Amino acid sequence: MLDLENHDFTNAQLRAVTIYQSRNSGTANPSRQYRRHTTKEKTMRKIEAIIKPFKLDELKEALSELQINGMTISEVKGFGRQKGHTEIYRGAEYVVDFIPKIKVELVVPEEITAQVVEAIITSVRTGKIGDGKIFVLPIETVLRIRTGERDKEAI
Ligand SMILES: Nc1ncnc2c1ncn2[C@@H]1O[C@H](COP(=O)(O)OP(=O)(O)OP(=O)(O)O)[C@@H](O)[C@H]1O
Ligand SMILES: [Mg+2]
Repeated sequence: MLDLENHDFTNAQLRAVTIYQSRNSGTANPSRQYRRHTTKEKTMRKIEAIIKPFKLDELKEALSELQINGMTISEVKGFGRQKGHTEIYRGAEYVVDFIPKIKVELVVPEEITAQVVEAIITSVRTGKIGDGKIFVLPIETVLRIRTGERDKEAI
């Protein structure tokens, strides 16, 4: 067994002991810390919100106050728990299963996800059925085609 107190170490041995000690003392070794840092830096979320079409302008207004660089919207049709029945769209009661909605898709840095979700809810909520839903998904990679930028720089 090596006597750590009274041994005459070479420099290489000293380095080995230092690394061993830092690994086992819970002190982060710099390369590990760096890996954790870069992983966190990459974190992005996709927010998909299905909303009532007449609420789109208010949603846009609310989001314009936040740091949003891009957004996609589509006209979609869908149903929720009431299966489309009894929902009113443009004054008419729909008897079909699918009701027109707008789908809003945004990819944002993880840090502002909660703020964006909050802004969506506040701006589109009427309190009546069919107000919609918000889905939050992890994003693996973003690529900006023109510049080749990736991830947060590409959003
Ligand atoms: N589970 C789901 N999966 C995919 N899309 C959904 C889901 N639930 C709702 N949607 C979409 O969201 C739209 C609005 O849903 P809606 O607000 O009616 O949900 P809900 O659960 O019925 O809530 P509420 O009781 O307030 O009406 C639907 O028309 C559909 O496009
Ligand atoms: Mg519903």
